[in-house]
Amino acid sequence: MSFQSGKLQGVNIREEIDRLRKERNAVILAHYYQKPEIQDLADFVGDSLDLSRKAAATDADVIAFCGVKFMADTAKILSPDKIVVLPDMDAGCSLEDSCPPEKFAAFRAAHPDHIALTYINCSTEVKALSDIIVTSSSADKILSQIPLDQKIIFGPDKHLGGYLARKTGRDMLLWPGVCIVHEAFSETELVKLKAQHPGAPVAAHPECPAHILDHADYVGSTSGILAFAKDFPGDTLIVATEPHIMHQMEKALPEKHFIGAPGADGNCNCNICPYMALNTMEKLYVALRDLQPRIEIEEGLRLRAKRSLDRMLEMAGSTVGQGDLGAR
Ligand code: 13P
Ligand code: SF4
Repeated sequence: MSFQSGKLQGVNIREEIDRLRKERNAVILAHYYQKPEIQDLADFVGDSLDLSRKAAATDADVIAFCGVKFMADTAKILSPDKIVVLPDMDAGCSLEDSCPPEKFAAFRAAHPDHIALTYINCSTEVKALSDIIVTSSSADKILSQIPLDQKIIFGPDKHLGGYLARKTGRDMLLWPGVCIVHEAFSETELVKLKAQHPGAPVAAHPECPAHILDHADYVGSTSGILAFAKDFPGDTLIVATEPHIMHQMEKALPEKHFIGAPGADGNCNCNICPYMALNTMEKLYVALRDLQPRIEIEEGLRLRAKRSLDRMLEMAGSTVGQGDLGAR
């Protein structure tokens, strides 16, 4: 199928999406790493925790999830009676890919006295093998509720796990997964950029390696970074996470200046998440029209995965996605 930009056979895609969302009683959920045009039409834009909560609470019949597959899977696990569509089923995640369920099961079996505290960026199968799921906005709070003498496996993100271990002093066994996007930032280029903007703070996502986090004034989830962008005292902020998040900052805070942290050549687009970028307006339109591609999860697996997600929602309590800077 071929599309012209914003048009399909003379039809305005934006208008068609609006018509279909009403007709289908659909809610459009989008992550902050989505393209600006998708963020702007979504009913709700949020971080992984916010989006899970929205998916669990919605009374819509259809959830059109503009994010990556593990996020849409989470929506289906928590809202099994809803139709959940993902505009592009190939929208995966390098962290999910780094943690095959059979290898994770063997790792768990080799450490029977450890509980598995697992980042939400993983497959449904790995969630089913885990005790408690965390997001970057809830990990700290959840970890603080686990007794100090309890041994912990943390996967799949070694950088988030390492950051939590350094911050809390907890000694966790780390799965060696990484996010290819946050790995792409260059320390050398970041130091040069800081020198060009003296006094500009750096806000970084904890999926960044330690050598980037060492230069950060604030480390937190996407919603946390948005909250920091609102509150920091200066007028220029260096942002070390996927650059589409800056759309929300630029909309809500036009008087401030936001600069994406650089990759190795000082100016590359290597920190755009290639998986998130697969979703387009055209594919969202087709997903709402055809109610495909649809997330389906076998019921036994869903129930096993739901246990660890329910624990996250209980233990995260009222942790708020403070970063919603006024999406629709
Ligand atoms: P947040 O939960 O902070 O939105 O992170 C999601 C993610 O995939 C970051 O790469
Ligand atoms: Fe996965 Fe990294 Fe993309 Fe987030 S930014 S979805 S962790 S690949």
